[in-house]
Amino acid sequence: MDKMVIKGGVELNGSVRVSGAKNSALKLMFASLLAEGKHVFHNVPELADVESARKLLQSLGCESEFSQNTLIINSKSLASNKADYELVRKMRASILCLGPLLAKTGDAIVSLPGGCAIGTRPIDLHLEAMKAMGAEIELKEGYVHAKAKKLKGTTFLFEKVTVGGTENMMMAATLAEGATILENAAKEPEIVDLANYLIKMGAKITGHGTSVIHIEGVDKLKPAEHTICPDRIEAGTLLIAGAITGGEVTVTHVEPLYLEAFLSKLREAHFKIETTSNTITIKKLKSWKSVDITTAPHPLFATDLQAQFMALMTLAHGTSVIAETVFENRFMHVTELMRLGADITPKTQVAVVRGIPEKGLTAAPVMATDLRASASLVLAGLAARGETVVNRIYHLDRGYERMEEKLSSLGAQIRRAD
Ligand code: EPZ
Repeated sequence: MDKMVIKGGVELNGSVRVSGAKNSALKLMFASLLAEGKHVFHNVPELADVESARKLLQSLGCESEFSQNTLIINSKSLASNKADYELVRKMRASILCLGPLLAKTGDAIVSLPGGCAIGTRPIDLHLEAMKAMGAEIELKEGYVHAKAKKLKGTTFLFEKVTVGGTENMMMAATLAEGATILENAAKEPEIVDLANYLIKMGAKITGHGTSVIHIEGVDKLKPAEHTICPDRIEAGTLLIAGAITGGEVTVTHVEPLYLEAFLSKLREAHFKIETTSNTITIKKLKSWKSVDITTAPHPLFATDLQAQFMALMTLAHGTSVIAETVFENRFMHVTELMRLGADITPKTQVAVVRGIPEKGLTAAPVMATDLRASASLVLAGLAARGETVVNRIYHLDRGYERMEEKLSSLGAQIRRAD
């Protein structure tokens, strides 16, 4: 199994291009189920999760070609309406085929995704949304069986903000009869990207990017062409790589507005940030201040950057309180950071991080447990004295395109080993 070997303590400097967003690409891929023909996506990151989504689409009868970050999906009349457990368990986002399959075929069978390292992550709200649109839902032998001759528009209030729930309902509603209003909808940039693609396909959507989304159902959609939006989480991770090593890093092909809450916390920690319309630069700073963060749905501080920010706070001056409110078990990186010498007291969904800027982190073998936890360990390894080995790096490959190449291009001494 691959591991990452990092010789820490090297300043990272330079400019690096941000890839397309995984969490947008996957959803647009599933949206292709809504219309037969060729869907063309540019700026698609080459990631294990994209491969998993391709396999799932293939099992449903969609062919695809992927080269140089352009993905062409040929969506045919579907060969199957069943998303198998073996494919869904590899990637939770597979549940996002439920809405499109149901809307297109009137009959979808999708495996329940099962457990996850960062929390229980139920899909009750996805199912409630489908039911509200008239679907009959049954859970049998680990699968969701959803049926509806024709979905009906409705007004649905999400009890909790859910990115996936919003996306599933948005896709299903495009082909429903009449108008659907999603209240307390998620506002993430990836939702806006999905809505923009659906609109190109002929869907009638307004309000995306706000908490109330209106969708007027249409009879048919057509395939379209789209460039995936930039990956704000990768951008944030690369900026911290610069910050934690005391270097100056510019990320390009990014949308600074997606990262406002994160950048404002970096500024509060005394980092100087410069932005243009599509670049962000973090300036060199040798000693930074601790700040508190609380994760929450967009536009507040993203849970997907919490672990990486915690790595930065382990070397800040002062004590930082990090509260995770989106997932109940997203502190798996804490004990691994402590193996590198970090001084952290984890409580339920809150971690108190006492910075050790003078002492610093020291290398150790650590184990990655999920995607963003892996990223935080790589970042800590970049700053730690000595050679850190991050095991189980396949988590990183699910969501970061050529991470070690990008970090090496900034001067990091990092290599992949078997
Ligand atoms: C998406 O997950 C992202 N994944 C996650 O990124 C991200 O952390 C998360 O949104 C929050 O921003 C993809 O886009 C593929 P949610 P999703 O539904 O849609 C609860 C990464 O590292 N909930 O917004 O699954 C849920 O348990 C990944 O790239 C219900 O209770 O997240 C959680 O506590 C990890 N019932 C909260 O809502 C439901 O039916 C938010 O989850 C659905 C969700």
